[in-house]
Amino acid sequence: MKLSLSTEALAKVKADLLAIGVRTGALEKDKALAQLDRAVGGALKAAAKLEDFRGKGGESLRVTVRGAGAKVILLVGLGDAAPRPKDARIVAVKAAQAAAKYESVAIVVPAEGDEPLAAASEGVQTGAYKFTKFLTGDRVPKRRLAAAKLVVTRRDSRALLACDRGTALAEAVTLARDLVNAPPNELTPAALADAAKAACAEEKIAFKQWDKKALEKLGMNLFLAVNRGSSEEPRMVHMTYKPELPAGSGKPRRVVFVGKGLTFDSGGLCIKPAGSMVDMKCDMAGAAVTIGVVLAAARLKLPVEVHGIFGATENMTGPSAYRPGDVFKSYQGKTVEIINTDAEGRLVLADVLHYAVQQEPDYLIDHATLTGACMIALGPWTAGLYANDDALATAYQHASDAEGESYWRMPLNKELKESLRSDVADLKHTGDRYGGSITAALFLEEFVGKTKWMHLDIAGPAFLERPHGQFPKGGTGFGIATAIRFLESLAPT
Ligand code: BES
Ligand code: MN
Ligand code: ZN
Repeated sequence: MKLSLSTEALAKVKADLLAIGVRTGALEKDKALAQLDRAVGGALKAAAKLEDFRGKGGESLRVTVRGAGAKVILLVGLGDAAPRPKDARIVAVKAAQAAAKYESVAIVVPAEGDEPLAAASEGVQTGAYKFTKFLTGDRVPKRRLAAAKLVVTRRDSRALLACDRGTALAEAVTLARDLVNAPPNELTPAALADAAKAACAEEKIAFKQWDKKALEKLGMNLFLAVNRGSSEEPRMVHMTYKPELPAGSGKPRRVVFVGKGLTFDSGGLCIKPAGSMVDMKCDMAGAAVTIGVVLAAARLKLPVEVHGIFGATENMTGPSAYRPGDVFKSYQGKTVEIINTDAEGRLVLADVLHYAVQQEPDYLIDHATLTGACMIALGPWTAGLYANDDALATAYQHASDAEGESYWRMPLNKELKESLRSDVADLKHTGDRYGGSITAALFLEEFVGKTKWMHLDIAGPAFLERPHGQFPKGGTGFGIATAIRFLESLAPT
């Protein structure tokens, strides 16, 4: 998409569609809007009156006009609350959606400064997202939104940088969405590793991968147990972005991201019912987020060392599939009794987290579509946040506010640990039915030692049944934006 900045008056801006955020009542009071309305012969106020549009949150109004540079004007209601950082993203996403079939769109960035501009840039480039790779004939999209103009008051080098931040984020989010939406027969563990490799090649990101033999050599027996029922080889991937800092600017912090990369989760022998299995291609969303975070951090040249590590496999029912009752020795050393083969994510993560701990991170952060229980607790749009460090949790929640991503802190409730006691091994890998998201997190905690660690259960927001806020149906790329904003807050020491 061709992105440009414009400082023209609203009536002059040339585009198929011009989108403007409107706070409740602003149509009567705002000078620039009044001027535009006069240029189009009062069509905006007339349409607003007819449709009873007042600029409440969630409202929008599309008016075909004459007399302006734009052919269609879209008014996006922003409500009467104080202006929020995410307003710009809302207007941009709505604009891109409304203009999906047009050639050009222009968006009036609703506030001054770099932040709203970056958010608008990101929003216009992610808003019209559709996964169309497998459509043929009439369903192949004929046109695609090709050009976007962001209408601002200032067009300087800082504004251009803000635009680039949005572009870097949008590209990472789009890649993650494409990977999550890709069908599991095509996106095998090896294909997911290849996609990570291709992303690394675009930037200066080091890439390393392990195949089945190499994982056996390491002794990642929990990870390999999950892979036993699959005819596809597993992969572990380690991506490393190291910043080039000017001399004397201190030592960059090291943050290691870990992702769950189940390219398909049938449940294994404890097989899922058909209705629960249908979207289980999304079970590699944690890995997709991890790839996106490293890619965007490298593009933005953040002064932080960022690692992305994921374990990729299927969970299937082949003749060698692992069984309830099996016992395996983890890469870290603890032995684990298998209870339910559908709780496979925590097994893969346990081994990969121990490898991540060996990289001696300042912070270790995992993204995983780990439990249905987390969706029961928080609904489909909020991720569960578990942390063994309060400052880390607080910083992360702060970062998420501006990005329009929702996290809720959950407790690592020590009392529930006893449900992971096994008679035959060091640990059982699932607890009782109640507190299922918490016991999964407690199991992971057994493998992170004293490292400052945060586990993000993204089972809900990683993949949506219908569009919500800035997120489309299907794969969302949820998590990348907050992770990048958190990384931006870390200065070298
Ligand atoms: N991948 C699923 C969790 C999931 C559910 C992700 C729905 C996205 C949407 C995970 O591997 C799983 O099956 N978890 C089980 C754990 C249980 C067997 C202890 C679950 O949540 O039911
Ligand atoms: Mn499962
Ligand atoms: Zn799973």
